Amino acid sequence: MTILVTGATGTTGSRVAAKLRARGADVRAVSRSTAVPFDWHDAGTYGPVVAGVDRVYLVAPVGVADPSPQFDRFLADAVAAGVRRVVLLSSDVTPESTPGLDLIRHAVRRMPEWAVLRPSWFMQNVVNEHWLAVGIRERQEMITATGDARLGFVDADDIAAVAVELLLTDEPVADDYVLTGPEALSYADLAALLTESGRPARHVPVTVDQYVAHLTAQGVPPEFATGLGEVELQVRGGFEDRVTDTVERVTGRPPRSYREFLACRQD
Ligand SMILES: NC(=O)c1ccc[n+]([C@@H]2O[C@H](COP(=O)([O-])OP(=O)(O)OC[C@H]3O[C@@H](n4cnc5c(N)ncnc54)[C@H](OP(=O)(O)O)[C@@H]3O)[C@@H](O)[C@H]2O)c1
Repeated sequence: MTILVTGATGTTGSRVAAKLRARGADVRAVSRSTAVPFDWHDAGTYGPVVAGVDRVYLVAPVGVADPSPQFDRFLADAVAAGVRRVVLLSSDVTPESTPGLDLIRHAVRRMPEWAVLRPSWFMQNVVNEHWLAVGIRERQEMITATGDARLGFVDADDIAAVAVELLLTDEPVADDYVLTGPEALSYADLAALLTESGRPARHVPVTVDQYVAHLTAQGVPPEFATGLGEVELQVRGGFEDRVTDTVERVTGRPPRSYREFLACRQD
């Protein structure tokens, strides 16, 4: 069985590929920069990467407001090549805030076998190249429009661990998997944890309009930034204030807390 991992140089894809290899799986890891390239914006790259593949870890086009045209074409090529199972990395946000993301969730449910991962916000956002991490490093601040609402931040390593189980099992997997860490935290709570771990930070609450302007000033495409602003509004309303037992149910071990996550990072 060959498993295709897209977004393989990214936060979750790199972890999924490494964990699959550690379990002895035959992995084809691709992105625009791999030897066999995969580019969502070049349909000519779809056929070669899905040839001979049984299962796929799929990271949707990043930064595209409506990725459904590319997505439908990719799934058609995948089915034609004999792919049976797709595990999609989606997001725990509602259709109203992200119509494009919802279209691709529906498309994937038409595959013979499918699973949709719906993670909350990644813990990695404060330590990698995400705009939150950049703000912390450069100005010791996190600008959000979420007010004092709480989110169930999850470690990308736990997301990858769930993906790997769903890619390897021969049991039916068809479901949406809402993934969170063990506790919901506000950005003020998170700022305190960051500061405690030696990364001084404070939360700067702004309006949604100010947030969208902040993102576009950092190079996020305006249409995408507007979508992210709507997501912030949803978070502000309390939508992300929850924790699930999905990581433990699927992997057999509890998800990592933010304090544990920060304690074992060197950056
Ligand atoms: N951050 C969060 O808090 C959060 C929460 C929930 C859901 N999500 C979802 O997570 C997804 C991002 O996943 P991630 O964090 O694992 O990835 P990531 O770290 O953002 O990396 C993106 C990956 O996609 C590849 N890529 C970029 N453009 C591409 C293109 N045109 N064609 C093919 N591959 C391309 C990149 O590699 P190359 O540059 O080499 O091509 C890289 O491997 C987004 O869809 C987002 O909605 C994020």
